[in-house]
Amino acid sequence: MRSLLFVPGDSERKLEKGFAAGADVVIVDLEDSVAAANKVAARATAADFISSRSRRTGSVIYVRVNDLSTGLTDDDLAALVPVKPDGIMLPKSNSGQDVQQLAAKLRVHEAESGLPDGGVKILPIITETAAGVLAAASYAGASARLTGLTWGAEDLSAAIGARAARDGNGRYTDVFRLARAMTILAAGAAEVAAIDTVFPDFRDMAGFEAECREAERDGFTGKMAIHPAQVPVINAAFSPSAEAVERSQAIVDAFAAAGNPGVVGIGGKMYDRPHLRLAERLLARAKAAKAPA
Ligand code: COA
Ligand code: MG
Repeated sequence: MRSLLFVPGDSERKLEKGFAAGADVVIVDLEDSVAAANKVAARATAADFISSRSRRTGSVIYVRVNDLSTGLTDDDLAALVPVKPDGIMLPKSNSGQDVQQLAAKLRVHEAESGLPDGGVKILPIITETAAGVLAAASYAGASARLTGLTWGAEDLSAAIGARAARDGNGRYTDVFRLARAMTILAAGAAEVAAIDTVFPDFRDMAGFEAECREAERDGFTGKMAIHPAQVPVINAAFSPSAEAVERSQAIVDAFAAAGNPGVVGIGGKMYDRPHLRLAERLLARAKAAKAPA
């Protein structure tokens, strides 16, 4: 999962375009990009589209449902689980317990639809409430369905009353940098993918590219997009370069050739076990980038 493109679930036109954008994952949205008056219609539009069209493309499909406090989640799941999405994105998640609650609901809907138990994965947005940020550690071991963790700044601003998430230089302020860092750490602890949040200014491609590069540097393995033009930039930024693959392969090979010791010297520099682990992670990402899933 390098690129995850949001597509409003009530817009057939955008669904059509979204599935053609080359994203590793299409997130069909029933939540914030759909007006309250359109929620019911969006379920039907999204479900019809997914069942009739999506299987022609290679995209993995997640559906963003409305959060557990809205009273809408069950009807979202009842409408969308039967068309077999690969996963559910859970917004405004407060803790690993919310993931467990969603997992229990999914189990029922899978049974009702004759689907295998545990097939539908879960990707929560973990920083949209203040409690969520503080409970970031609770996702480790929460559910075998958990595929990754991601974060969001807009709803957190509203939740804490911050007038802006970024300072005058475009840099996230402390609370949002903390939320971002907690997502990387929580994903590491849970051993799932860390996915960076959206960049709303979709005409600023230079700013977007810089943010993708920083995210990849810091440990995120993918990023969400809100516009099709952002997808190729994400895919490029999160696909390891040929040089990085070559460097990592040389490290793995050197350890193997030396009989897998604790430490080796390569070109006059020390490499120990963390370097090997990092090299193996990068090679796994390069492999996944060639066959996105
Ligand atoms: N998925 C699919 N298609 C999209 C798209 C998206 N996320 N964003 C834009 N497009 C389409 C547009 O419909 C337009 O196609 P058209 O000319 O055939 O109508 C084309 O791409 C170019 O779009 P553009 O004119 O550059 O932008 P816009 O003003 O039409 O749309 C947004 C801007 C922000 C409304 C739109 O990008 C969008 O809906 N993004 C997703 C929002 C979302 O899901 N938010 C929730 C998560 S934060
Ligand atoms: Mg939101």
